Amino acid sequence: MKNITVTDVLKMKKQGKKIPVLTAYTYSIARALDSSGIPVILVGDSVGMVEAGLSTTLPVTIDEMIYHTRAVARACSSAMVVSDMPFMSYQASVEDAVRNAGRLVKEGGASAVKLEGGLKAASRIKAIVSAGIPVMGHVGLTPQSVLAFGGYKVQGREKSRAEEIVKDAKAVEKAGAFAVVLECVPTTLAARITRLLRIPTIGIGAGPSCDGQVLVVNDMLGLSDTENPLRFVKIYANLNSIIKKAVIEYKEDVENGGFPSKEHCY
Ligand code: KIV
Repeated sequence: MKNITVTDVLKMKKQGKKIPVLTAYTYSIARALDSSGIPVILVGDSVGMVEAGLSTTLPVTIDEMIYHTRAVARACSSAMVVSDMPFMSYQASVEDAVRNAGRLVKEGGASAVKLEGGLKAASRIKAIVSAGIPVMGHVGLTPQSVLAFGGYKVQGREKSRAEEIVKDAKAVEKAGAFAVVLECVPTTLAARITRLLRIPTIGIGAGPSCDGQVLVVNDMLGLSDTENPLRFVKIYANLNSIIKKAVIEYKEDVENGGFPSKEHCY
């Protein structure tokens, strides 16, 4: 099967088809998403928080992103794999941005990269696109700026900040991005940006008007904190409790001599 391309994603917006996106970080989960028909898989730098227990995405490195991207790309025969550029892999210079985006494609096997920021990131987006690498933008709540924001807070509730986010989204489109993530912004603002842009908006905590939706796979599968999920997360399965039940059963089987039984022996 042929992998989804940037052209296909742009066509989905034109045809009014919603774009379902999920994150993945490992071969096994990526294989399940790819075979379920998810068209775009994001190897998010959220990997640091949901798979490594970090409290922010800031420590995630380009080498870690390459490792996870490679595992995900190996599993995908139809999904488009977008890899996140981690903190400080593109902020310091345009040259850093192009070189590191190139590594995610060349060494990781990504088909596109994602980076955070609007107006301030436009020069990086333009240069990466000029190098032949598709870019997904990310505006609103940009987690790599958590220190500047003073926490993970909804962005764009005040008029002046909302106007900034509109300008950011437009700058991302003008710089040549093929899509933009809108994170944690009011529904009305996301709807306005979605109407204004030719490229698809992919929302997370941005309401139903976006052209697509993205969730962190660990959150929607119930592998994260299922007691206090974030407001925008819908939990579709509770894998935490399924895993716990299976592990307890295995432990008891081993303790009681119930495993291995005859059919598991040579
Ligand atoms: O890192 C990530 O998973 C993301 C998504 C939440 C959009 O950036």
